[in-house]
Formats: sequence, C-alpha cells, structure tokens
Amino acid sequence: MSTIYETLKKDHDRHRKLLATIADTQGASDERKKAWDDFYYDVSAHAAAEEETFYSKLMAKEDGQPEGRHSVAEHKELDDMMEELNEIEFSSPAWLQKFKDLRHRYEHHMEEEEDDVFPVAKDVIGKDGNEKIGSAFEKRKEDEIELVEEKAEEKLEE
Ligand SMILES: [Fe+2]
Ligand SMILES: [Fe+2]
Repeated sequence: MSTIYETLKKDHDRHRKLLATIADTQGASDERKKAWDDFYYDVSAHAAAEEETFYSKLMAKEDGQPEGRHSVAEHKELDDMMEELNEIEFSSPAWLQKFKDLRHRYEHHMEEEEDDVFPVAKDVIGKDGNEKIGSAFEKRKEDEIELVEEKAEEKLEE
C-alpha cells in the first residue's frame, strides 16, 4: 500500500508529463483535445480528493492551517483558470497563452505541495494512518472523476 505522499507525488508526476505533452500539441488537433481532457479530469478530481482526504486532516490541526488554506485557495484559482480555458477555442492564440500561464502556476503549486506542505503535514499528521489516507484519497478520486464527467455531460446538454 502506498502512503498519501507517494500517491500524490505519482499524480503530480503524471500531471507534469501531461502539461509537457499539451505544450507540444498544435491548434485544435485531436492530440491537444485528448491530452487536455485527460489533464482536466484528472487534475479536477485530484484537487477535490486532496482537499477532502488530505487537507481536511492537515487543517484539523492548528499548525496545518496556514499551509492548508494557502493550497485550497490556489486550487480555486487553478480551477477558475481551467474553466476559462474550457471556454476558449483550442485553435486561438489566447488558448496557448492561458495554458502557459496555467502550466506555470500549477507546476509551482505542485512544487510547493511537495517541498513545503508535505514536510509540515508529516510533522502535524504524523506517521500513523498515512496509508489509510492514501487509499481514502484514491477511492475519493474515483468518485470525483465520475462527478466531473457527469457535470461535463450536463453542460453539453444545456
Ligand atoms: Fe493541490
Ligand atoms: Fe496535489
């Protein structure tokens, strides 16, 4: 079984690869649409599950609150940026511009989680239950992917 830290890091590495893949795609190509979809669903579900299973534990302790609040606020900013991107044509130069901005911010967010938040969390939450939080995260993320897909379908039907 993996600890929550290993599980989150594995997700982050996948997201880093997807960001690089998207940056290599052109205009409204199928490659770009496919890579963006993979990224969008996985990151949305990751952030939601992270808040519910990991940050909730961290923020339950006073010493974890500053880091927790900071990350959750960034999730909201990143989410807004992704929704803005969903509204722009893939072929428009504005799309790539905004994507670059998102990539920069999201890479910074992951780096901060790994370098600043994880050490604090290891201290505050302690070693006990790290594998349990890891599996809770994975379970929650699966449910969350279904929810994000449902929401996207509803949007299409509107
Ligand atoms: Fe995050
Ligand atoms: Fe994360």
